[in-house]
Amino acid sequence: MTEKGTVTQALANRRSIRAFKPDPVPEALLNEVIEAALQAPSWGNVQPYRVAVASGDTAKEIAAELTARFNTAAKVQRAGLFAKFGALLKGGVKPDGDYNTIMKYPAELGARYRDTGHGLYGMLGIERHDKAARHAQMARNFSFFGAPTALFVFCEDSLGAYAALDTGIFMQSLALAAEERGLGTCMQAALATWASPVKARFEIPENYKLICGISIGYKADDKVNSFAPKRRPLDEVLLKPKR
Ligand SMILES: Cc1cc2nc3c(=O)[nH]c(=O)nc-3n(C[C@H](O)[C@H](O)[C@H](O)COP(=O)(O)O)c2cc1C
Repeated sequence: MTEKGTVTQALANRRSIRAFKPDPVPEALLNEVIEAALQAPSWGNVQPYRVAVASGDTAKEIAAELTARFNTAAKVQRAGLFAKFGALLKGGVKPDGDYNTIMKYPAELGARYRDTGHGLYGMLGIERHDKAARHAQMARNFSFFGAPTALFVFCEDSLGAYAALDTGIFMQSLALAAEERGLGTCMQAALATWASPVKARFEIPENYKLICGISIGYKADDKVNSFAPKRRPLDEVLLKPKR
């Protein structure tokens, strides 16, 4: 085994943080993190991403709107057809994100997704059948798990998968730069379920689509932050050569 350098340590230390202190992160520090991530490679150096930084009142307003939508959507899901129709007419419940964030996983991936979910809820002492507790935990996504800032990452849509690839590399670079500076992050596709609360508050250039949110702030001392879902062993990831 080779000696581990700082990059490998940062890769191992970064975990999705799901409990933040409310302390605001100075704007200069947020800018430093984003600027560090701008060193990320991208196809043809096109850098097909933009970031909406929501802090202070803007963050609170967006969190309140997203949480209200999530709660209403959950209520409607449990309600009868008539209520569903009424809610649809009123609007604001149906996801209006640029991408579909509600996936049906193929069997192989679904097993890992479920294991991770069960692991997280298990650590939090939430029983599988306890719908109210599961809803409350899920809802915390929309108030950024208590973080004072949420970054909404937009991706130029016309390059398709390659722009999304570039944006993902940028996001992980940002998460590592944040980790190095004592900040925690949680990448959240959930924050792209409804795009209108963000679009109402930021100038979004044409063709840029909301692909993911990232909650960012100082890590709270909470056991949820020690959740470290296991990774696949190397031999499961490496493709076997044809014989
Ligand atoms: C694109 C993307 C979307 C994600 N969306 C969510 C989300 O909506 N809510 C959440 O709690 N975690 C979300 N995660 C975090 C993953 O659950 C997490 O990365 C995975 O379980 C591995 O755990 P780790 O980040 O702590 O290593 C997302 C991660 C990525 C990369």
